[in-house]
Amino acid sequence: MATILDDRSVNLELVTIYEISKILGSSLDLSKTLREVLNVLSAHLETRRVLLSLMQDSGELQLVSAIGLSYEEFQSGRYRVGEGITGKIFQTETPIVVRDLAQEPLFLARTSPRESQDGGVVSFVGVPIKAAREILGVLCVFREGMSPSRSVDHEVRLLTMVANLIGQTVRLYRNVAAERQQLQEEKRQLSRQLQGKYKLDNVIGISKAMQEVFAQVHQSAPSRSTMLLRGESGTGKEVIARAIHYLSPRKDGPFIKVNCAALSETLLESELFGHEKGAFTGAQGERKGRFELAHGGTLFLDEIGEISPAFQAKLLRVLQEREFERVGGSRSIKVDVRLVTATNRDLEKAVAKGEFRADLYYRINVVSIFIPPLRERREDIPYLVEHFLEKFRIENQRAMVAMSPQAMKVMMNCYWPGNVRELENCVERTATMMRGDLISEVHFSCQQNKCLTKVLHEPGGQQAVVVVPLERIATHTVPSSPSGMDKDKSLAAAPPTSERERLIWAMEQCGWVQAKAARALNISPRQMGYALQKFNIEVKKF
Ligand SMILES: Nc1ncnc2c1ncn2[C@@H]1O[C@H](COP(=O)(O)OP(=O)(O)OP(=O)(O)O)[C@@H](O)[C@H]1O
Ligand SMILES: [Mg+2]
Repeated sequence: MATILDDRSVNLELVTIYEISKILGSSLDLSKTLREVLNVLSAHLETRRVLLSLMQDSGELQLVSAIGLSYEEFQSGRYRVGEGITGKIFQTETPIVVRDLAQEPLFLARTSPRESQDGGVVSFVGVPIKAAREILGVLCVFREGMSPSRSVDHEVRLLTMVANLIGQTVRLYRNVAAERQQLQEEKRQLSRQLQGKYKLDNVIGISKAMQEVFAQVHQSAPSRSTMLLRGESGTGKEVIARAIHYLSPRKDGPFIKVNCAALSETLLESELFGHEKGAFTGAQGERKGRFELAHGGTLFLDEIGEISPAFQAKLLRVLQEREFERVGGSRSIKVDVRLVTATNRDLEKAVAKGEFRADLYYRINVVSIFIPPLRERREDIPYLVEHFLEKFRIENQRAMVAMSPQAMKVMMNCYWPGNVRELENCVERTATMMRGDLISEVHFSCQQNKCLTKVLHEPGGQQAVVVVPLERIATHTVPSSPSGMDKDKSLAAAPPTSERERLIWAMEQCGWVQAKAARALNISPRQMGYALQKFNIEVKKF
C-alpha cells in the first residue's frame, strides 16, 4: 500500500513539474506566468499561502507574486538581505523549514500571522531561487495543521525544483528585456542621428552600405532622371523604388508597378501601352496602359532585364521620344512619367552577350543604385528582425512576442540567399508557428532540418557554403561575388527534394512571381502554372 501511495505522489509531482514548466515556457508576461505557477503549487501542496520574492535593483528583496495574501500583507513583503526568514534564505542560499512559526524568533510576521485563525500551528518551508549560480530570490509556502512527525522532504524537493525552473525563466526574461531595451535605445539614438538626414520611411538600414543607398536616394529622388535599381532578389528594390517616388515632387501622383517577367510579350505591350477597341480578340473596349495611368507620377518597371529583344526596341522608342501609340491605335500619346527600373540580372554581361540592347541599357542606366545583399550588411539584421516582429505584434495583437539572444545569433549567422524577403518570411513563419511568446533557436525550421538554406562559414575562408539539409539535396557553394547577380540560375542548379517542395521553395525565393520562379527552375511559365495547379499550391499575392 505504502509503495502505491509513493508512486502516486511521485507521479503527481512529475505532473506538477510538467504543468509548471509548460506555464513558464508559454509567455513572456512574467507576472502572469509566475502567478499561474504559484496557483498550481498551492493546489498541489494544498496550502493557501505561497510567496515569491525577487531581488530588486534597489538591493531589497520584494514580493512579486503571492497567493492568499491581502493587499496590505503583499505590500509589506520587503526584506533586506539577512532580514527575517526570507532574508536569511537569500543570504545563506539554503532552504529553511520551520515547523511552528509561533516559536521562531526570526519570523517577522509581515506577510502572514504566526498562528492559524483557530490558533493552530503554522509551519513554513522556503527555498532559494537560483539560476547559473546566481541567487535571484526566495520561494516559500505556509502550511496549517501539519503533524509534527510528518516529513517535509517532499515539499523541500518540489519547491527546489520549481525554484530552479522559475530562476531560469526570470534570468531569460531579464536578458531579453535588457537586450530589447538596449536595441530600443540604439534605435532611438540612431533615429536621432538620422533625423531628416538619411532616413526612409519603413526602410530599415543602419549599415554603412544602406546609409549610402539612402544618401543616393535622397540625392536623386527630386530629379526626373530614369533610375536603375540593382541587387539580388529580396534586397528591397521595390521598397527603394517607392521611397524614391514618395521623396520626389511627384509624390501626390500615382506610383504604378509592372513586373516585366510576369507577362508574355503581347500582354506586356497592351498592359504598358494600352489598347484600342478591337485591337485583338477580346479587346472589347479601349483601355489605358500603365504608362498613361502613371501620368504625373512614377512608373516602376520591375525585372527590366527579362524583356524580349523586340520589346526592348519598343521601350527604347518610348524612352527616346516620350510618346507611344496604344496597341491597335495610331494616335500618339504623350505622357509625363518618371521611370524607375529594377533588375537582379548582370545587365553588362547581358549587353556583352547581345541579349540586352546597349542603347536601352544606357537609357535606363542614368542613375544606378546597387542594393547590397543582406549577408554583406549583417548589422541591419537585428533592426530588420525587430521591425518585422513589431509588424507581427501589431497585426496579430501579440504584444509580448520577442526573440531570444541565441535565436538572434542564428539570424545573424544565416546566409540569407533570399535576402530581406527570406528574413521577413522566417520571422513571420516562426512567430506564427511557435507556441508561447519567446522565439528561441529551436523554433527555426533550419534548426529542425526543415529549412532549405543554412550556413556554414568556412573558417578563415572567403566562401560561404549554403547547405540545403533536406535529404537528397545537394550541398552547393555560392560564390561570394559582390553582385551575386546570377542567383536565379544558382537556384536551378541546386533544386531541393520533392517536386512540391521544390516549387514552393522557388516561389518563395522569387517573391511568388511565377515567371521568375519558372526561370529559376528552368521550366516555362506555362509548365510552372500547370505544376502549381497540379500540386494544389496557392499562389500568394503581395
Ligand atoms: N530595408 C528594408 N526595410 C524593411 N523592409 C524591407 C527592406 N528591404 C526589403 N524589405 C521587405 O522585404 C520584402 C522584399 O523586398 P522587395 O520586394 O523590395 O525586394 P526586391 O529586391 O524587389 O525583390 P525581387 O527582385 O525579388 O523583386 C518586402 O516585403 C519588403 O517590404
Ligand atoms: Mg521586386
